[in-house]
Amino acid sequence: MFTIGVLASGKGSNLEAIIKHIQGGFLNVKIGVVISDNPDAHALEIAKSSGIPAIYIEPGKYRTFLENTQEEKYIECLKKYEVEFVCLAGFMRVIKKNFFAEYTNRIINIHPSLLPSFPGLEAWKQALDYGVKFTGCTVHFVEEDIDTGPIILQAVVNVLNDDTPEILHQRIQEKEHIIYPIAIKLISENRVRRKGRRVIIDED
Ligand code: GRF
Repeated sequence: MFTIGVLASGKGSNLEAIIKHIQGGFLNVKIGVVISDNPDAHALEIAKSSGIPAIYIEPGKYRTFLENTQEEKYIECLKKYEVEFVCLAGFMRVIKKNFFAEYTNRIINIHPSLLPSFPGLEAWKQALDYGVKFTGCTVHFVEEDIDTGPIILQAVVNVLNDDTPEILHQRIQEKEHIIYPIAIKLISENRVRRKGRRVIIDED
């Protein structure tokens, strides 16, 4: 079965959505392992309670990326659990060269805005502060530059008059929980092709 690995640093609601879609039969994939750089990540609890190997691996001394020796441990762990494809779900560190060499074109991420608008942190807040009327979320391939990889799927969320950052983020997350599983399904069925910067989804 198509085996994915999930990297998560936080509350794990996207991981939870993926698990639900597996349990409900929508996704015919297996989560081989969930790895976190944060020992207290709720994502690890979610994985454990679903019987998925949940592993904390120290990130090393840097705040925004994995130290090389530690990154090797992440890769070894993914390989140990026979992970074919890596899904970042709120993983707060930048992925580097070795990772890309091992999982070329096989790493995706979910970002809480309509990229290329509002890359980086707290994208929902950036959108609200800027005053856009629509924002949303994006599933994209991960490349070395942050939040710039080819776009697989996007969903739009209206910005409402009385939105706060929290409320807007919540509505964006509701859409994330729909499109991330769909993107994983399309990939697992080999229906996603890259054509330069464009991503072509093959119809049923
Ligand atoms: C999501 O908003 C995702 O777009 C961003 O990090 C957040 C992770 O949320 N990359 P969760 O941990 O899956 O709830």
